[in-house]
Amino acid sequence: MSLQKDLPTRVAPETQITSPERQIEQLQQQVEELQRQLLIAQKMSSVGQLASSITHEFNNILTTTINYAKMGLRHKDPATREKCFNRILSAGQRAAKITTGMLAYARSKGDRKDALDLAQVVGDVLVLCEKDLQMNRVKLQLDVMGHPLCEVNVSHVQQVILNLVVNARQAMNGGGMLFVRVAMSDDGQMGEISVRDTGSGIPADKLPKIFEPFYTTKEADDRGQGGTGLGLSFCRDVIEAHKGRLRVESTVGQGTTFTLKLPLAAPASGRKSA
Ligand SMILES: Nc1ncnc2c1ncn2[C@@H]1O[C@H](COP(=O)(O)OP(=O)(O)O)[C@@H](O)[C@H]1O
Ligand SMILES: [Mg+2]
Repeated sequence: MSLQKDLPTRVAPETQITSPERQIEQLQQQVEELQRQLLIAQKMSSVGQLASSITHEFNNILTTTINYAKMGLRHKDPATREKCFNRILSAGQRAAKITTGMLAYARSKGDRKDALDLAQVVGDVLVLCEKDLQMNRVKLQLDVMGHPLCEVNVSHVQQVILNLVVNARQAMNGGGMLFVRVAMSDDGQMGEISVRDTGSGIPADKLPKIFEPFYTTKEADDRGQGGTGLGLSFCRDVIEAHKGRLRVESTVGQGTTFTLKLPLAAPASGRKSA
């Protein structure tokens, strides 16, 4: 009691008092900034999972290029040289495809949306995952049943697809099949992408939790590659921001299917969806 009395009473000058409204505004700004940083971190963590396989693939491309260049220099006959040039050319084209995919993935378009063919968007992401899938004995089957034109933030939607593919691969310890399908929705109103795996599946009691931020069942391995639990929560936010839908179906021991639907671009954009 007496201690309190002895304490000098300090009244902050009027100018230093922050109104509750201002405090809320500042906190909102902080939340927005943290969300932005979290988004970048999530993006880097999902592409980080592919870093070793992409490096591996570049190494293979370089080995191919060097070996065929040496062979072309050794053999003077036009037929062998032409074969060597063709192999070097396709290795270079493969490398260019991967770097284009990486650049498209890394580029941020802020909140901008463009009318894009979903099949193209999916194709650009899968280029980045092919080697990773192969190294983990996962066979990829891509079915392009249509070319829906949707109004999308390409960087965000690519991040969603990458998250779903990386999750699917991680659920198939020991290999399996990954089916990616692009189509128009049955009612013709939306573009649809589905990612189906033949992995572990998700128990029914865990299903409602998987979209929660930081929910993960993956423990850090010796490469420090645990789960962040942010992948699906990010997917859900992106799909909501696109006024789309994200659905999951899963059977333990059989596998999981994630289906996302995105509204078609307005016909006013002057292009037609196939
Ligand atoms: N395709 C899938 N098969 C089985 N479980 C999955 C699949 N996708 C997601 N999950 C489950 O949902 C959890 C949350 O996924 P996510 O938000 O991407 O976080 P993270 O991958 O970092 O764990 C995973 O830890 C896993 O338990
Ligand atoms: Mg994940």
